Amino acid sequence: MGVMVAKTAGFCFGVQRAIDQVYEQIRTADRPVYTFGPIIHNEEVVQDLEEKGVHVLNTEEELAALREGIVIIRSHGVGKAVYDLLDREGITLVDATCPFVKKIHGIVQKQREEGRRVIIAGDPKHPEVEGIRGWSAADTLVIEDAEQIDELLAGTDEKLCIVAQTTFNYKKFQDLVEKIIKKGYDILVLNTICNATQERQVEARRIAAQVDVMFVIGGRHSSNTQKLFEICKKECKNTYFIQTLDDFNPECVNSVRNVGITAGASTPKQIIEEVHANVRFKL
Ligand code: F3S
Repeated sequence: MGVMVAKTAGFCFGVQRAIDQVYEQIRTADRPVYTFGPIIHNEEVVQDLEEKGVHVLNTEEELAALREGIVIIRSHGVGKAVYDLLDREGITLVDATCPFVKKIHGIVQKQREEGRRVIIAGDPKHPEVEGIRGWSAADTLVIEDAEQIDELLAGTDEKLCIVAQTTFNYKKFQDLVEKIIKKGYDILVLNTICNATQERQVEARRIAAQVDVMFVIGGRHSSNTQKLFEICKKECKNTYFIQTLDDFNPECVNSVRNVGITAGASTPKQIIEEVHANVRFKL
């Protein structure tokens, strides 16, 4: 009998680092603390921070109106315009942009200066992509599907550089790149996909295949948690979704030998530990 908790469950390196920076500011700040956008997509965490005095600013207008305080940039990063907006007296910027995202900002800025048109493989509405775009030129393209290439790219005399949103699907990235290369473009390909999501999925699949019951912890609306659930359900039919401890039904683990636990990217350690403790208690 045993419980296997995925090592990759919960926050990735970049998100953990950003949250640590927020708590560090709560301890040391002598002025109001703000985050630009919610630090993670987890209402309980954002609510807890609000109670500790960390307010969320959602728009550039709100940033511009701020007279004093500490503003934390979350792991998704932001475009250059936001840094310019915060570069004034009374405002201190704490940059919690994930270093992997920061690296993409540097790449697109350099490549655009060297005359390459930048293509971002990603979701145009995602804040990370908006931020990357904000370091590049106005002619930057965001492409989600290979079908879009014909309508978006006209002649082949342009020099291109392609990067990816850190959570972009690798297979889709390969398809895009292949299609552009076939058309005869001079293209510099930089695979900027982060491994954190894929590693979490691979480990979840491996654990689910070995256990009698599997728990996937995370927000109902979190797409990466839903994806984990689907992966685990394929390997282990007794896979359960847990958002809060109330969703934990002790009867699920009656007379089973092995239990597995994983969690989505915005799941705090605390809930993972609580579920773990409850499962251990029952076994
Ligand atoms: Fe996380 Fe940074 Fe990768 S935020 S998913 S470690 S790019």
